[in-house]
Amino acid sequence: HDSEIEHDAGDKGGYRHYMLKEIHEQPTVVRNTLQDRLTQSGVDPQIFGALAPDLLAKVKHVQIIACGTSYHSGMTARYWLEQYANVSCNVEIASEFRYRKSFVHPNSLLVTISQSGETADTLAALRLGKELGYMASLTICNVPGSSLVRESDLAFMTLAGAEIGVASTKAFTTQLTGLLMLTLALGQFNGMAEKDQHKIVSALHSLPAKLEETLALTGNIEKLAEEFADKNHSLFLGRGDQYPIAMEGALKLKEISYIHAEAYASGELKHGPLALIDDEMPVIVVAPNNELLEKLKSNVEEVRARGGIMYVFADKDARFESDATMRVINLPHVDSVIAPIVYTIPLQLLSYYVAIIKGTDVDQPRNLAKSVTVE
Ligand code: AGP
Repeated sequence: HDSEIEHDAGDKGGYRHYMLKEIHEQPTVVRNTLQDRLTQSGVDPQIFGALAPDLLAKVKHVQIIACGTSYHSGMTARYWLEQYANVSCNVEIASEFRYRKSFVHPNSLLVTISQSGETADTLAALRLGKELGYMASLTICNVPGSSLVRESDLAFMTLAGAEIGVASTKAFTTQLTGLLMLTLALGQFNGMAEKDQHKIVSALHSLPAKLEETLALTGNIEKLAEEFADKNHSLFLGRGDQYPIAMEGALKLKEISYIHAEAYASGELKHGPLALIDDEMPVIVVAPNNELLEKLKSNVEEVRARGGIMYVFADKDARFESDATMRVINLPHVDSVIAPIVYTIPLQLLSYYVAIIKGTDVDQPRNLAKSVTVE
């Protein structure tokens, strides 16, 4: 039995679970994913494949297809592609895309995002996309030689290394890293503003160190987790490119701690979810700015009176003050363009430590498989 534990400990690098090891590997694997691809001035389109310079030059619309956590990275990329690369972007869940009649915009690039490269719905969506006449396909994937890589025109390999934990962590942040580099590549052909190019390049160069700095929050988050362990529901709120990060935080919490968690666009709170909130329903707010936080505070004012608690993950430079019913967790100041990637870290840690308290099987949560290769 001991040798088994030793053997396991070896694989887990001394961490208690693969998931925790993979959370802490993120600065390194993001750095590896940037290595030899991001230069001081941007990226060479060829990092997406030999045919990329010709194919990407023609792209006017990006259709992103994925599932689960990979869908969330695509949802985040839509904000970047439309704001910085001047290309229109639609993001869709693979199992929805493949069963509906859809229209193909001219000059459309079909982008699949997948850690495993074997997700049945995503692979079927790629095959359907080819039949529908998409100009080209690109996959952002973590497994060389997987079906999605073999069947796509272009491929960008995330260099996260093997991801063992069923709950995806380092694959997600390396996907986002690749998607920001895709934004740079497409921007080159679509009049990206010089200032935006510099902003993204310098933010990406700073990303590994910022992830490292954010991981130092582990102790605070482990303590915070105690306030969630006895809850049965939670609400994650985010706006703009942090809305998909709220979705990712909710997915992490539900899939490994089995606590029901729902993500909402912050502005939607008063259109219904506010009725749900009481002192048993913690509200997690991801990276609000001042104006949004004021709105949310007034929205939940009566709830706070009844003991409702808001947990606010915020830039320390925003100087938000914790009070009796609002816990502020300060994150390092980061450039807005990489904030979605950085704000994922505390949410991954929160779900991990809540799951530890709940005693669930963190690396192999019930009912779930690492790769959903069947429908
Ligand atoms: C995420 O934590 C889950 N394991 C799951 O949602 C996963 O992201 C989804 O099944 C997609 O898998 P893929 O990235 O391998 O395609």
